[in-house]
Amino acid sequence: MKTTLTVIKADVGGFTGHSDVHPKLIESAQKSLESGKKKGIILDYHVAKSGDDLELIMTHTRGTDSKEVHELAWDTFVGATAIAKDLKLYGAGQDLLADAFSGNIKGMGPGCAELEFEERKSEPILVFMMDKTDPGAFNLPVFKMFADPFNTAGLTIDPTMINGFRFEVWDVYENKRIMLDTPEELYTLLSLIGTKSKYVIKRVYPRAGNKVPENEAVAAVSTDKLHLIAGEYVGKDDPVAIVRCQSGLPSQGEVLEPFAFPHLVAGWMRGSHNGPLMPVGQKNSMTTRFDGPTRVVGLGFQIANGKLVGPADLLGDIAFDNARKKALEIADYMRRHGPFEPHRLSAEEMEYTSMPKVMEKIKERFEKI
Ligand code: F6R
Ligand code: MG
Ligand code: MG
Repeated sequence: MKTTLTVIKADVGGFTGHSDVHPKLIESAQKSLESGKKKGIILDYHVAKSGDDLELIMTHTRGTDSKEVHELAWDTFVGATAIAKDLKLYGAGQDLLADAFSGNIKGMGPGCAELEFEERKSEPILVFMMDKTDPGAFNLPVFKMFADPFNTAGLTIDPTMINGFRFEVWDVYENKRIMLDTPEELYTLLSLIGTKSKYVIKRVYPRAGNKVPENEAVAAVSTDKLHLIAGEYVGKDDPVAIVRCQSGLPSQGEVLEPFAFPHLVAGWMRGSHNGPLMPVGQKNSMTTRFDGPTRVVGLGFQIANGKLVGPADLLGDIAFDNARKKALEIADYMRRHGPFEPHRLSAEEMEYTSMPKVMEKIKERFEKI
């Protein structure tokens, strides 16, 4: 029997502004998923939050893209939206871009990452949830986890990892994908994923020689781009990722290690600014300063026969205190640029936020010189 871990998230109303999730929405989501569990749709669940995003972490045996599981998530968001509307929370129902569920949550607004696998003797899995950024924010950390020996000691020490990993990279604008094998195609991989607004790592697979079969993905990232679905800027995508670890895969510590470096990501205020990615514990996921800084929460689970044992609030640990401090220093530095690049996103990326509307107003006033 294979287990599936599905993480689906949506911003269905902020408390206050775009900063946090109101406890009543968490409660409503828990009730909804509990009833899904009683009906046998899912085996187990955990409701988390990251900034203003409601995060549904669910286990089941229905495989990826299950209509029943996606519909349960959709109904859960619809229920939470009703409460958000009653409380007049900010942007109630913001990410629900469709009027009714249509068979798969993809393309409807919420973000989704899923992995189906044969449970190993012990199955440690980490779930990462970011707020105020886009899927490309996972490129650097996921690359480091699975392909950088300076991050992951196992790549040079563990004989079952020595053949490396295979990366599935998506071009999110052209709807195309490419498979790249590391270590031999490392430079090609980097040349693509450095352009993190266009090329995003979707999945990672083990290669021959690993204990996990080659066709079983060991990491998955939500690549849903809200502006491509809505046709205009409706908020940043705020991606999630799932990463399996240990026993021939990067260890938990190797999976966490990249987050000790608060790298610059796109998002923050109005989805239009570069700023540091700050690792935080669940209780510190509320975004504040300049609607940020961009945050990442990392929860650990042991999966036991489809049950979620956990979470362990891993990025909340004191080992990430220096990363938080560094992130805040970088935030100070970046903020001082105000509306100037490279704090504000490049003109090309601004095309996907509110810039076209600003240009529309003044375009007639440009004179030939
Ligand atoms: C970023 C985000 C916020 C809003 C900002 C303006 O993803 O959600 O930074 O863009 O608070 O929001 P509105 O336009 O709703 O006033
Ligand atoms: Mg919001
Ligand atoms: Mg959000």
